[in-house]
Amino acid sequence: MDNRPICFFDSGIGGSTILKEVMKLLPNENYIYYADSINNPYGQKTKEKLFDVVDSVVKKLLKFDPKVIVCACNTATEMVLNDIREKYPNTLFVGTEPAVKIVYDKYPDKKSIVMTTKGTHDSERFQKLFEKYKTVDSTLIEANELAGLIENGEDAFPYLNSLLKDYKGNEIVVLGCTHFPLVKDEIKKILGPVTFIDGGIGIAKRIDSLIEKNEGSGSLKIIETSLKVEDKIKDIVNS
Ligand code: DGL
Repeated sequence: MDNRPICFFDSGIGGSTILKEVMKLLPNENYIYYADSINNPYGQKTKEKLFDVVDSVVKKLLKFDPKVIVCACNTATEMVLNDIREKYPNTLFVGTEPAVKIVYDKYPDKKSIVMTTKGTHDSERFQKLFEKYKTVDSTLIEANELAGLIENGEDAFPYLNSLLKDYKGNEIVVLGCTHFPLVKDEIKKILGPVTFIDGGIGIAKRIDSLIEKNEGSGSLKIIETSLKVEDKIKDIVNS
């Protein structure tokens, strides 16, 4: 048995959409969630700046002796996780990538949109992934402002409406940022009854396959940076 914590981080509340799925599958683990709201949005930073931000988060999390660090952020995964893994070769990291492979495997003939941050969109790693798994009618959409609006609790509908109104008729929506599952209702109001795809369940299974389990009862500790997000995160994981 291994009672060391599973540590998560994201630029705020978004990664709790992944945490929720992991806690469902592995309820007996000890979790630490680092909500780096002070550095939100990650998706508008340069690669160099984001590396420094993530490096300092990783240093803080390593103090808890984690059995795995989950980068619950597509942007950080795509832009800097390879370099972070190189810097910390003895630490186990699990990343989060836009789940375009699920569309490729399950819905290759359907019209789909893939929503990401600018950082994810422009990254070499994501461009390669999309080239490999893009389907016949798949469109990339950069939603640059969306993670910030969600993090700050602002109404995202007007922004989403201007971004998505011309995409009615798409049946599949890949949520390529962990903040985006938090505005599924607004997206449905614009596009109708679409099927949403995100990486949560896949990441939970991956962690399950990698770790030695804890046998006690589980716990959750949330570390906030600038915003008071603890209650929001607890609501998301309990929803
Ligand atoms: N939640 C993040 C992601 O999955 C980051 C959003 C941001 O801070 O730009 O991409």
